[in-house]
Amino acid sequence: MKELALGIIGLGTVGRSVAKILKENQDLIAARAGCAIYIKKGAVKDLSKSREIFDFPITNNIDEILNDPEIDIVLELTGGVDTPFEIAKKALRNSKSLVTANKAMLAYHRYSLQQIAGDLPIGFEASVAGGIPIIKALRDGLGANHILSIHGIINGTCNFILTKMKDFGMEFDAVLKEAQELGYAEADPTFDVGGFDAAHKLLILASIAYGIDARPNDMLIEGITQITQEDIAFAKEFGYHLKLLGIAKKDGDCIELRVHPTFLPKDAMLGKVDGVMNAISVVGDYVGETLYYGAGAGGEATASAVISDIIEIARTKSSPMLGFKTTNHILKLKPIEEITSAYYLRILVLDKPGVLAKIATILGEIGISIDTLLQHNHKHYSTLLLSTHICKEAEIRLAVARISALEVVKAKPTMIRIEK
Ligand code: NDP
Ligand code: HSE
Repeated sequence: MKELALGIIGLGTVGRSVAKILKENQDLIAARAGCAIYIKKGAVKDLSKSREIFDFPITNNIDEILNDPEIDIVLELTGGVDTPFEIAKKALRNSKSLVTANKAMLAYHRYSLQQIAGDLPIGFEASVAGGIPIIKALRDGLGANHILSIHGIINGTCNFILTKMKDFGMEFDAVLKEAQELGYAEADPTFDVGGFDAAHKLLILASIAYGIDARPNDMLIEGITQITQEDIAFAKEFGYHLKLLGIAKKDGDCIELRVHPTFLPKDAMLGKVDGVMNAISVVGDYVGETLYYGAGAGGEATASAVISDIIEIARTKSSPMLGFKTTNHILKLKPIEEITSAYYLRILVLDKPGVLAKIATILGEIGISIDTLLQHNHKHYSTLLLSTHICKEAEIRLAVARISALEVVKAKPTMIRIEK
């Protein structure tokens, strides 16, 4: 099998998770990519820091990666703007593909990088909304549409803070500290709470949606640092959710771009998105509204997006229609009888003593445990409404057949599966 070598610059929250997933899911990723993918070398800033042991060498000299002719793809997972831009330029000039999670760099340099890259691929799925594949959805999936609007919760740290302030009455600083410990916040969290990180992401989305080249300074940007418990109480009192939104709207031949805290009506879908989760609503002129939801920050969700770019680059021009380049990973279909679920049964029975016991006995003999039970009495009949704990499809089918055969049961029971 062909091999693809990666050089990974940055082994912090995101880089470590990329290394971990590449290792743990290596067979699956190889089957999807059509080649074995391995990390040839990693780079960090401070080699003396105590850190886990990787199964590839690490250096603090990024040129060992950028100048290595055997490295096919450079992963830029550092942070900041200027140094990453230098890394990205050098990688591309040395004919390497680039994958980056760095929205701050892209907010300023995305068009220059596109120009320098020429035909070399640059993957940046991880730069917006963590694990949500919003870049591919917007660039490829919605390509037929004029994008009328984008409304997004696109900063996980701010959403985490606002949620904790709302649900637990916690103070801003304490929750920010928690978000930092969980690896959600930027190295300088001012980017998160000041709204700048969301603005960087909105600029990237706006380029894809509208082809517009704008910079953070061109935009309306307000963060959440002024939000207090009084604002949260107002939202609760008057039926709103308070969210930091990134909004892009097409208005004639103008595009409006803004990031700010926003009161959303209680029943708005975006209003219900809590914690570190992100969600983006994109309205196209023909498709209508589409909605994307998932973890917006954190190492593993972000690494998932980074690796999706690596796989896409590995496939080059021949992307397999159904996602796998090799078929040694085809799993087998679970037989229907083996599927497990909780079940609801509605059983019409004669209103006679001992009926319930007969049904309970059948369920008990088969090993199905009853979770809840209700009885509705009519004139001569009763309806039993019961739910079960998890059991196998084969077991519930057997139970239904045996219950149906009871003389006291007047119709085939109705069965509905319960997803918990
Ligand atoms: P971390 O601060 O956790 O890690 C940064 C890594 O980069 C560290 O390993 C650091 O080295 C290394 N590094 C920094 N500067 C250099 C340099 N000049 N040369 C070599 N290595 C360097 O950041 P994250 O992993 O959280 O973020 C990385 C990137 O991903 C950022 O652009 C961020 O905005 C983006 N991102 C982060 C997300 C998240 O949830 N954390 C989500 C989406 C995107 P050392 O270990 O020695 O300090
Ligand atoms: N700091 C960012 C956030 C990381 O909280 O959304 C994901 O881009």
